[in-house]
Amino acid sequence: MKHIQIINGPNLNLLGKREPIVYGYQTFDTYLVQLKAQFPEVELMYYQSNMEGEIINKLHETGFSTDAIIINGGAYTHTSIAIADAIRSITVPVVEVHISNVFKRETFRHHSFLSEVCKGCIVGFGMDSYRLAIEAVLEF
Ligand code: DQA
Repeated sequence: MKHIQIINGPNLNLLGKREPIVYGYQTFDTYLVQLKAQFPEVELMYYQSNMEGEIINKLHETGFSTDAIIINGGAYTHTSIAIADAIRSITVPVVEVHISNVFKRETFRHHSFLSEVCKGCIVGFGMDSYRLAIEAVLEF
């Protein structure tokens, strides 16, 4: 059985309510139930925090023991050298995901500090980006 840690960053606790035109109407909790049903052979662990240091602590805690980490850094994607350094410091492969197609949006969203330290990136498929990331991890 593979163990995969999903980490969602700031404001992603508001999925379903937050800018639904961009991020959809589904809460992550509802989506997670679906995701777990789709991958009964995978142990999916979920963590969300609005705080940079807590995200770093979770990367340290799980980054040497799980099979993979899927991270949506939210806006920290575009600002956080500290999260990039945490990913650089761990041994578990990390996949970066984004719900929206950040390249179709404001230019400040076009740069990610995380991409170069991640194994790969899945961007712009709505919530389905997480499923696609799991599919990728299962091929590792
Ligand atoms: C996001 C894109 C980021 O630019 C934004 O700050 C988010 C969500 C996404 O999943 O599309 O919070 O990571």
